[in-house]
Amino acid sequence: MKRTTSSSKLSPCVVSIDGEIVPPERATVSVFDRGFLYGDAVFEVMRAYRGVPFALGEHVARLRRSAERVAMHLPVDELTLAAEIGRAIEAAHAFAPSGDLYLRLVLTRGSGPLGLDADLARKPLRVLIVTPVTPPPREAYVKGISAILVRTTRDIDGTAAAGAKATSYLAAVLAMRDAKARGAAEAFIVDARGFVVEGATSNVFVVKGKTLTTPNEGILAGITRAHVLDAARARHLKVRLASLRPSTIARADEVFITSSIREIVPVVAIDGKKIARGRVGKVTRALHRELRARAGMADAPMPWE
Ligand code: PDD
Repeated sequence: MKRTTSSSKLSPCVVSIDGEIVPPERATVSVFDRGFLYGDAVFEVMRAYRGVPFALGEHVARLRRSAERVAMHLPVDELTLAAEIGRAIEAAHAFAPSGDLYLRLVLTRGSGPLGLDADLARKPLRVLIVTPVTPPPREAYVKGISAILVRTTRDIDGTAAAGAKATSYLAAVLAMRDAKARGAAEAFIVDARGFVVEGATSNVFVVKGKTLTTPNEGILAGITRAHVLDAARARHLKVRLASLRPSTIARADEVFITSSIREIVPVVAIDGKKIARGRVGKVTRALHRELRARAGMADAPMPWE
């Protein structure tokens, strides 16, 4: 079996390891890295618009909080991290001059002898990958997407680490595998109580009349979610933070998901049944416009245009 990946097969990207930019084909980490061995790592995914990462401060703050929750620490201060991200974005200009970028920042507990004892690793490892963003196709924004309900538990649900953006995404990977097999673009995670908590990699919102509802428990507190809630309050929508039953979603006027990469994507069917009359709603569109404005993209076409 061939064990190397030739750089021609990778999409163009910039990789920085511990602050140093390395050629992608030589961007490797140890097999003793605990992120690889145990999923002992936290991360962030950001989107840059015209070379500027959206909500960088919030993402770095969340990375710090995630690290604290799993008893790790950021090995460098925020300014150093921001400078490293800036250098990687600059290097990406060669193949992505538009500056529309996907940024993935992973912080692992580092390498050490085998064993679960967290003290076996002394030095955290940070990896930054910057690559052109591939947002969902225009059709997803024009017509909306389908989702399926998947009853599952994620690795850190109900643990002290809950709420951290930890890298153990196996349950989400399997949920998305089901979604793909059933022609859906997102899996709504249903918890043991039967409530929809969030998407596999997104937060879920419903609009009913003038009220916007999104769950507040068992979720990753999305940065896009925070901006959308803020924009909704500014538009005098009533905001409710509450668990969602599948039946509430089925009766909603509008349903959408949020994430840094996908921004706001309307959801028009669940488990093959039309919801929200199968149409993309006005509140969804208005909040999306506001989000794009916050990202400095008010003058660019909207993703459905
Ligand atoms: N993840 N919930 C989960 C489980 C997620 O993985 C994500 C996003 C979100 C949305 O968070 P934010 O608005 O901060 O991006 C909610 C990133 C985008 C990913 O894994 O690709």
